[in-house]
Amino acid sequence: MEYFELASGDKMPALGLGTWRLRGDTCTKAIRTALELGYEHIDTAEAYGNHRAIGRALQDFDPSKIFVVSKIPKSDLRHDDVLEMAERALIELDIDTLDLLLIHWPNERIPVEETLSAMADLVQRGKVRNIGVSNFTIDHLEEALEVTEVPIAVNQVEYHPYNNQNDLLTYCKEHNIVVTAYSPFGRGNLVRDPEIVRIARKYDRTGAQVILRWLVMKGLVVIPKSENPDHIKANMDIFGWELDTEAFEAIERLDSR
Ligand SMILES: NC(=O)c1ccc[n+]([C@@H]2O[C@H](COP(=O)([O-])OP(=O)(O)OC[C@H]3O[C@@H](n4cnc5c(N)ncnc54)[C@H](OP(=O)(O)O)[C@@H]3O)[C@@H](O)[C@H]2O)c1
Repeated sequence: MEYFELASGDKMPALGLGTWRLRGDTCTKAIRTALELGYEHIDTAEAYGNHRAIGRALQDFDPSKIFVVSKIPKSDLRHDDVLEMAERALIELDIDTLDLLLIHWPNERIPVEETLSAMADLVQRGKVRNIGVSNFTIDHLEEALEVTEVPIAVNQVEYHPYNNQNDLLTYCKEHNIVVTAYSPFGRGNLVRDPEIVRIARKYDRTGAQVILRWLVMKGLVVIPKSENPDHIKANMDIFGWELDTEAFEAIERLDSR
């Protein structure tokens, strides 16, 4: 496993399991499989409706060793709604602290200062260790950075070879914000791109592994979703090897096609 250091000094595992659309027993099973294989990071959100299903799996593991991320829905960004949502998430996940709580989507109708100040309260009360945002552009980040009392540790955005947001990534690195890549496979189709398949053959890897390795080499956290045990296992095998410049640059060029 590789780790990225957050502004608080906490270490965030570079690989997590995405859980959008995973529900009920399928979700609990996928989380158990991942944690047994050595995943240390789970990505969820209030909107996914799977906190309880994840909580059931977490009970069999040491929660202090698992980095749990959740997100506040766009509709719950008022101060008191944030506090209520976080309390509910902790009860449903059956844990004492969230490692990272994100604003799921910006909401122009609620001042970001109000939301961030509620999130800072949660940090102060020990309910949340780090705070962050998701789907924020550079403009959104500039506004948020001006008013936040607690560092914005992470921005989680759609990031894959067809959506290679280098300007946003550079901005985030300059401001000590770790970027998490969601939908790393463009929800699945990218693993069959001919150029990705060519590079995968060159390294005797899968297309999925090549994409995840490229993202981690760029300095992003990855959170592929899978409910297939073989995929969950294969998606872990992305550390301890590198893409060469030819392969790396070839993937960089996929966005402009
Ligand atoms: N912040 C946000 O607004 C936001 C938005 C979207 C997503 N997310 C987060 O990001 C996570 C990942 O994104 P995503 O779920 O949209 O899509 P994704 O991870 O890009 O793709 C998931 C698809 O890829 C397949 N897959 C996984 N591993 C594979 C492998 N090794 N080989 C071939 N296919 C593979 C999965 O099928 P199997 O299950 O059959 O393996 C599934 O169909 C989400 O689950 C969620 O946690 C956040």
